[in-house]
Amino acid sequence: MSLASLMRAEAELLLPTYERNPVLLTRGRGLYLYDSRGRRYLDFLSGIGVNALGYRHPAIEKVLSQQAKKLIHVSNLFFHPYQAELAKRLTRMSALARVFFCNSGTEAWEGALKLARAYAHRQNRNGHKGKWRMLALDNSFHGRTFGSLATTGQRKYRTPFAPLLPGINFVAFNDCLDLQRQFNGSVCAICLETIQGEGGIRPVSREFLRIARQLTKKHDALLVIDEIQCGLGRTGRPFAYQHYGIRPDIVTVAKPLAGGLPLGAILTTNKVARCMQPGLHGSTFGGGPLSCAVALEFLQQTEKLLGHIRLMGEYFRAQLEELANKHGGQVRGMGLMLAWALDSPDLAKAVVRRLLARGILINRTNETALRFLPPYVIEKRHVDQVTEELDRALGELVRAPRSAKGARSRT
Ligand SMILES: Cc1ncc(COP(=O)(O)O)c(C=O)c1O
Repeated sequence: MSLASLMRAEAELLLPTYERNPVLLTRGRGLYLYDSRGRRYLDFLSGIGVNALGYRHPAIEKVLSQQAKKLIHVSNLFFHPYQAELAKRLTRMSALARVFFCNSGTEAWEGALKLARAYAHRQNRNGHKGKWRMLALDNSFHGRTFGSLATTGQRKYRTPFAPLLPGINFVAFNDCLDLQRQFNGSVCAICLETIQGEGGIRPVSREFLRIARQLTKKHDALLVIDEIQCGLGRTGRPFAYQHYGIRPDIVTVAKPLAGGLPLGAILTTNKVARCMQPGLHGSTFGGGPLSCAVALEFLQQTEKLLGHIRLMGEYFRAQLEELANKHGGQVRGMGLMLAWALDSPDLAKAVVRRLLARGILINRTNETALRFLPPYVIEKRHVDQVTEELDRALGELVRAPRSAKGARSRT
């Protein structure tokens, strides 16, 4: 089917939830995607942080094809060889103790919220009174299901679905005074992304996270951290919170975990895990043998790449800083999770569209932030290509500003 007929068919048949770029992708290899006409695209978005080892990574491909021939799904009524091994690896990486496997980011986050409530429920039975409020941050994004929406601090996602879960209050981003003002004994958890992703690649400040950890300890509440976009090597450490020298009580991961297959996980401590029992939570597909076998390989490959990610991140950041000095705007992020926030939304839209026309995939998170989530295996020459094209696009657009109509980069 041609791109034009696909566009017509989808417009008639699918819920109108996405504004796709008019590109029909048919295959990928290494850092490149190819469209139906054989055109090549350098991918600096990785399917929104999923394809972290690029396309057709030989080790991933090998495990995938071998395991597909053995066993794809068993449900969680039976054992298979890989969940325990994967949990061992994740707990070792995170210094946490227990894991639950699911299928996506939002499902991991829902489970994390349930876990926090179940923990509070036990505390309430044991003498605490009315401990069930949760704090989340302005501008956050945790997914599209109801609990995730209820903790997502962006009105545009929440408003049409009200009323959402009660008992959730939003703290101004990185505002330590607001955090202290809102935190008291009725709070059972504070929920946050170490680096806000959809909110424009904004790292939480050291001071804010330190105070959040202190307050949770003081009030016997939980620190629940969403590392769905920033975790699993993206910042050059296994988890972004490890840059801050803290250990959360609950962490969620998903996106790149199974090399492109859907897999999410909740990690937590023994103390929190004790509030769960058979039947309280579950998943039909979560943690199947195919996705877990591939995830083991993904983590093994990623461990070897952490130094490379840090180096490439520093290099890319320095190049972006130079561009920001020349064209304006602000560079944010860590490792290979970076944004260049431009001075105007029209400019950001137009830059994404120009790069696409020149065979480079990036996107835009909020109105002005260009987002870069390249695969961990990029080299300096790929960064150079992208920054040269950014420089050129900005130069052209600032000289001859055009309408950004038709840009379709948002997720
Ligand atoms: C920080 C964060 N949390 C949760 C989610 C939701 O993940 P999913 O789309 O897999 O449900 C996302 C997705 O972009 C995310 O970036």
